[in-house]
Amino acid sequence: MSRTKPVAELTREEAAEELNALAQEIAVHDAAYYQEDAPRISDGDYDALRQRNGDIEARFPDLIRDDSPSERVGAAPVQGFAKVTHSVPMLSLGNAFDAEDIDDFILRVRKFLTLGEGQELLLTSEPKIDGLSASLRYENGVLVRGATRGDGRVGENITENLKTVSGIPHTLPEGAPEVAEVRGEVYMSAEDFDALNERQKSSGKAEFANPRNAAAGSLRQLDATITATRPLRFFAYAWGEMSDLPAQTQSGMVGLFAAWGFAVNPEFRVCSGAQELLAHWQDIEARRALLGYDVDGMVYKVDALDYQNRLGFVSRAPRWAIAHKFPAEQATTVLQDIDIQVGRTGALTPVAKLQEVTVGGVRVSNATLHNADEIARKDIRIGDTVVVQRAGDVIPQIVRVVDDARPTGTVPFAFPEMCPACGSPTTRDLREDGETDVVLRCTGGLACEAQARERLKHFVSRQALDIEGLGNKQIDDYWAAGLVRGPDDIFTLRARYTDDPPDFWRYTSGARDKIGTLKDSVVKLFDAIDQRRDIALDRFIFALGIRHVGETTARILARHFKTLAAFQEGGAALAPEGGETREALENIDGIGRTLVDALQQFFAVDENRAMLEALVAAGVAPSPLAESENSGALSGKTIVFTGTLETVSRAEAKARAEMLGARVAGSVSAKTDIVVAGPGAGSKRKKAEELGLTILDEQAWLELAEKS
Ligand code: IVH
Repeated sequence: MSRTKPVAELTREEAAEELNALAQEIAVHDAAYYQEDAPRISDGDYDALRQRNGDIEARFPDLIRDDSPSERVGAAPVQGFAKVTHSVPMLSLGNAFDAEDIDDFILRVRKFLTLGEGQELLLTSEPKIDGLSASLRYENGVLVRGATRGDGRVGENITENLKTVSGIPHTLPEGAPEVAEVRGEVYMSAEDFDALNERQKSSGKAEFANPRNAAAGSLRQLDATITATRPLRFFAYAWGEMSDLPAQTQSGMVGLFAAWGFAVNPEFRVCSGAQELLAHWQDIEARRALLGYDVDGMVYKVDALDYQNRLGFVSRAPRWAIAHKFPAEQATTVLQDIDIQVGRTGALTPVAKLQEVTVGGVRVSNATLHNADEIARKDIRIGDTVVVQRAGDVIPQIVRVVDDARPTGTVPFAFPEMCPACGSPTTRDLREDGETDVVLRCTGGLACEAQARERLKHFVSRQALDIEGLGNKQIDDYWAAGLVRGPDDIFTLRARYTDDPPDFWRYTSGARDKIGTLKDSVVKLFDAIDQRRDIALDRFIFALGIRHVGETTARILARHFKTLAAFQEGGAALAPEGGETREALENIDGIGRTLVDALQQFFAVDENRAMLEALVAAGVAPSPLAESENSGALSGKTIVFTGTLETVSRAEAKARAEMLGARVAGSVSAKTDIVVAGPGAGSKRKKAEELGLTILDEQAWLELAEKS
C-alpha cells in the first residue's frame, strides 16, 4: 500500500485500512527484532512506520486499534506491585468498523476452517466494556491470584484489590477445574462514578475524568482498603489457563462462569451470522447511554472452542474474535484560544483551549490541533464554534468548524514564526523524500528553557530512567525552584541539598527531633534516584532524548557500543560526512543515515558531551544489555508449502508453522529448510529436490508440528 499520501488527505476507509496494515507490519518487525534478533528493516524505516501510525491515529482517534503498536508503549507494569507473568498471554482484539468488515471477518474465518456452505458458524456477541481487564487464578477452587493485563505478557499482582470487586467470587463451587483462570473486565458504573466524584469533590480531592480512569485509579491502590471503598464491578468473558475445559463453546463457558458466581453481561447473545450480529450491534448502540456503563463497541467470538483452537492467533489478537466499534462521540463547543507548546525536540504543537464541554460523559477543555497546516487546512479560528470528538482515552480532536456559527471579525490563526518560549527562530526539517516537514521547530536547542525542561521530563519518564517520585509535576516544580537544569543535576540533588534543603523539602510537623531535616518522602526520592545509577545502557541512551532514537534504536545502539564510554567516544568521533565511525554505524542493520545525522548533531553540541561527562562523574554507570533467548522448536526455520493440503487450509498450516516460530516463505531457495509438498506440487518440489532440501508430505508435517 502506498504510504506517500499525506495523513491529512486520507479518507476514513484508507486510514482504517492503513492502521490495520501498520499494526500487522510493525508486529512482524517487532517479532523479527525481539524474538529472532534479526531486524528486517532499518531503524529509520521502523520509526517512520510508528510515526505514520501515530499520525493517522491522531487524526482518527476512533480508529485506534486495540492491537495498535502505540497502545503497547508504556503498557509495561509499573513499580509498587509484584510482577506476574501470565501463563497464557492476555490478548487484544482486531477492530471492525462497518458491515463490510464483519462480512470479511466471517468470510476469513469460514475460509480458514474450510467450512462448506451448509455448515453453520455460530458467533457470540456481547458489549465491549470500557474498563480494565483482569485475570483471576483459582487453584482447587480458591482465588489465589488476581492480576492486571499489563502488556499482555506480564501484569501486576493486585489480588487483594480484586477481592474487593463485586462480581468476583473468592471460591469456586465443587467440580470446577483444579486450575481455572477466569478473565474479564473491571469497570465502574456511571451512577457509581458520579457518586464517587461527588464524594471526591466534597472532600476536596481531585475528580476523575471518566469511569475508566476512576476504575483504574481505584484498582491500582497499593492499599486494598481504599479499593474496597470504591464501587468496582466485574464481567467475566474469557479465560486463561484451565486444567480441563468444562465446556465446548464460548457460550457454554460464560454460562458456567455465571453458575460459578461471576457476573456476566446480560446482553450476551449467540448469533448465527452477520445479519444477527449487526442487528444486535444496532440495538446496543441505540441503548448505549442506558446501559449504565461505558461500552465502546461489541465483541464477536466464534462460539465453538475447537474452531477457536484451530483459528489461533495473529500477533496478539485471536483470529476467532473481533471488536465492532461504535462511532466516536462528538460535541460542539467554542474555541477560546490556541496555545503553542514546545516539545523536547523543539516541535511547536498547537493546543486548542475549549470552553468546557461534556463529550460522551467526559469533560473536555483541551484538544490537540497537531500542526500549523492542520489549522490552516481546516481554517480554525479563535472564537469559532467547533465539533470536538473523543474516542477511548486519547486526546480529543477538533473535527471541523461549524461555519454558520462563525462570529464576525475573526481572523485566520497566525502561527508564530518565533519560538514562544525562547524567541529563537523556527525551521521546518527537510525530510528524506525531499519535502519540508509540516512541523515547525525551535532552533534554540538547550538554550530554550521549554526544550530543556521537556527533555528532563523525558529523561525521568517511564520508559527511560523511571524514577519513582519524580514525574512531570516535580520536574516543573524543581525547575521553577532552580534545583535542576540538566539530567546530571538529578543525581547531585542529595549532595547539594541534604544540609540546606529548600523549605518545601523540610520536615515541618510531627517528630520534634526531625523538624528542619529532610522530609521522609524526599529521602525516599533520593534513594530512588541512587538506585538508577545502575541502569541498562539501552534505557540510558533512550533517556537522552536524541532525535529519532526511540526504544528500538536505543537498543541497537546499546548492543553495538556495549559501554557508555564507547558510545561517548563513537559519538564524538562522528563527522558530518563519511569517516570510519559513521560508516560502521550506517552498516548496522536497523540504523539509517537520518539517525546517524541526529547522533552526530547531538554530539556536536558541547553541552550534550559535558552533560554525559557530568552524569558519569555523578556516578551513573549504565550496564550492558543481557542477551535475549530463543524460543520454539521450529524457531527460525523457513518453510514453504506447495501443492494441495488435504486436511487443513493453507492459512491454517501457515499459522501453525508461524506459531511454532517458523517463517513461511512463498518460494524455494537455498535458504529454505523444509518444503511441505502435497499432491499437485510442481516446480517448487522439483527445485527443492535439486537443492537437496528436506521434503515432507502433509502427514509427516503434521507429525513434526505435533512434536514441536
Ligand atoms: S475478549 C481473546 N470480550 O477489550 C479475547 N474483551 O481488545 C480477549 N474487552 O483487553 C478479549 N469487553 O480489556 C473481550 N466482552 C469483551 C470485552 C473485552 C472489553 C477489552 C479487554 C481486552 C480488550 C481487547
